[in-house]
Amino acid sequence: MNMEEKLILPNHLAIILDGNGRWAKKRGMPRSYGHIVGTDNLEKMCDVISDMGIKYLTVYAFSTENWKRAQDEVALLMNLFRKYLRRCEKKAIRNHMRVRIIGDPSALAPDLQDEIREVEEVSKDYDRMFFQIAINYGGRDEIERAVTKLADDARKGVLPEGRVTGEIFERYLDTAGIPDPDLMIRTSGEQRISNFLLWQMAYTEYYFTDVAWPDFHKEELLEAIREYDRRNRRFGDAK
Ligand code: FPP
Repeated sequence: MNMEEKLILPNHLAIILDGNGRWAKKRGMPRSYGHIVGTDNLEKMCDVISDMGIKYLTVYAFSTENWKRAQDEVALLMNLFRKYLRRCEKKAIRNHMRVRIIGDPSALAPDLQDEIREVEEVSKDYDRMFFQIAINYGGRDEIERAVTKLADDARKGVLPEGRVTGEIFERYLDTAGIPDPDLMIRTSGEQRISNFLLWQMAYTEYYFTDVAWPDFHKEELLEAIREYDRRNRRFGDAK
């Protein structure tokens, strides 16, 4: 960003990290190579996004549908998450960044669940940046889990009587307390939201690019934010 470029930044940026597999295949490499490069890129982009001053970042790393992939690919992704979470913990401490995992951790390996608890616990009081990683996440699954907890509370008599408002409902989501995304970027050509943050993205601006995640760097992000800035200047008062 040059000095004159004063862009309206999203307060909360959500990204669907897509295209690692295709990116690797195009280079005659196995899909796993794409995931490794994609993970390194996430680490770099997390710094870029933090340096820009964006407060909230949420990334879609593994969906409830992704279990259907080949077993060795799922195993590789789980290993990458393990290693990544350890590095992320160090980064969280350095950058005063709170890290949360959204999704249903109960299907993950016990040691990965321990890793998740640790990074969340270590970073829970930080507030310079908020980083959410969606693992075993599905928007419908999140809503089902939220409604189940809400119904439990209703049975226990913990809920106020009467209408369950959006404000009450949101307290039961994985993203409780986190503002809704302002901008959602999906890389690698697909133009759908694939069960990501269904409730939360009701008013979000969507930006789709053909660039695959491993090639999505600062300049590509700036292009997306320039587009977001243009839309805001045009329609800023409309919402
Ligand atoms: C979807 O498509 C992407 C994934 C299932 C994985 C995304 C994961 C990473 C970028 C790893 C980093 C994340 C963390 C939290 C360490 P695809 O990339 O398989 O690509 P395709 O659509 O070309 O097959």
